[in-house]
Amino acid sequence: MDAVRFSLLLFLLSSLFISSLSARCNPNDKNVLLKIKKSLNNPYLLASWDPSTDCCNWYCVECDLQTNRIVELTIFSGEISGQIPPSVGDLPYLNTLVFRKLSNLSGEIPPSIAKLKNLKMLRLSWTNLSGSVPQFLSQLQNLEFLELSYNNLSGSIPASLASLTKLGALHLDRNRLTGEIPESFGHFAGTVPDLYLSHNQLSGKIPESLGNLDFSVIDLSRNKLVGDALMLFRNPARSTFRIDISRNLLEFDLSGALFPMNLTLLDISHNRIWGNIPSQITALEDLQLFNASYNRLCGKIPQGGKMQGFDYSSYFHNRCLCGPPLNKC
Ligand SMILES: *[C@@H]1O[C@H](CO)[C@@H](O)[C@H](O)[C@H]1NC(C)=O
Ligand SMILES: *[C@@H]1O[C@H](CO)[C@@H](O)[C@H](O)[C@H]1NC(C)=O
Ligand SMILES: *[C@@H]1O[C@H](CO)[C@@H](O)[C@H](O)[C@H]1NC(C)=O
Ligand SMILES: *[C@@H]1O[C@H](CO)[C@@H](O)[C@H](O)[C@H]1NC(C)=O
Ligand SMILES: *[C@@H]1O[C@H](CO)[C@@H](O)[C@H](O)[C@H]1NC(C)=O
Repeated sequence: MDAVRFSLLLFLLSSLFISSLSARCNPNDKNVLLKIKKSLNNPYLLASWDPSTDCCNWYCVECDLQTNRIVELTIFSGEISGQIPPSVGDLPYLNTLVFRKLSNLSGEIPPSIAKLKNLKMLRLSWTNLSGSVPQFLSQLQNLEFLELSYNNLSGSIPASLASLTKLGALHLDRNRLTGEIPESFGHFAGTVPDLYLSHNQLSGKIPESLGNLDFSVIDLSRNKLVGDALMLFRNPARSTFRIDISRNLLEFDLSGALFPMNLTLLDISHNRIWGNIPSQITALEDLQLFNASYNRLCGKIPQGGKMQGFDYSSYFHNRCLCGPPLNKC
């Protein structure tokens, strides 16, 4: 074959390839997306969702290259009002669903989301969603990342979320959640997720079971938790690197604590914690933020390690803590 013919063949093949690309959108997915656009009142953000074009090229969506099915729907920071369209549940290949920074999006999380069995990432955050954290989310067994932060969700946390075996992060912070932390959160069936429950109205005791698991991050700050938190401070070999239990009503003796060696952040401020700060804390080499202020601690601040690198505000407002950076004992 001579060069001219060969390049002609190449040209024909590549134009075939391009034309097949231009029509790759799955018609079912396209209909569903158009329904979604309509139920959101045809927002400007979705102006590119034009029925005469390939839906794989539309803004806010992503098609899988092999199957040409819609796998991602990410609606982020636009002038969107109304509710999450139940028809999102009719995009069966979705692995990522995001509605984020949409302050006028309200209503409840639609049950149809339970149909999305391939979902790995669900982020419904910085919206005005209300109602409860739905029980049906535990049916999404492929979920790796669940974020419902910064909403207006109320009611208690479903214990069944602990059955999500692949969950790597659970963000339920900054809502109006009440009730206790489920005991089941000490028995996550598979991976142990980073746990963010801060800025809610959770009450009762921290379940003892939470001491069983090796959480990397645990943030329970700004709730109404009472009683003991020593279960988080029993094993220095834990890989936990962030623990924030600040601004609760916790009341326990810190003297027996053994801090995980890899901690970079430890905030226990604004509680009713008593006893002294154990000297094992001076062995923590990566500690960048430590705050024990506004408690009922006593005794000499351990000398050494990172402890004198924190200023007085990490220690002030306690019963009788003393020594640098506070006054002499
Ligand atoms: C939210 O709705 C209010 C009232 O309709 C409107 O003034 C505001 O611009 C909307 N904000 C966004 C981000 O859509
Ligand atoms: C949030 O939703 C509630 C109803 O659930 C409504 O009363 C309130 O006005 C909404 N707030 C915003 C900022 O849209
Ligand atoms: C949260 O929802 C309640 C009703 O359930 C509503 O009165 C309130 O305005 C909402 N909060 C915000 C910040 O929109
Ligand atoms: C602490 O961090 C080091 C370095 O990142 C890592 O090698 C080690 O396995 C961690 N320790 C635990 C108990 O996870
Ligand atoms: C510790 O927490 C108190 C109370 O919230 C705050 O005033 C202080 O600035 C914090 N100090 C550090 C070093 O984080």
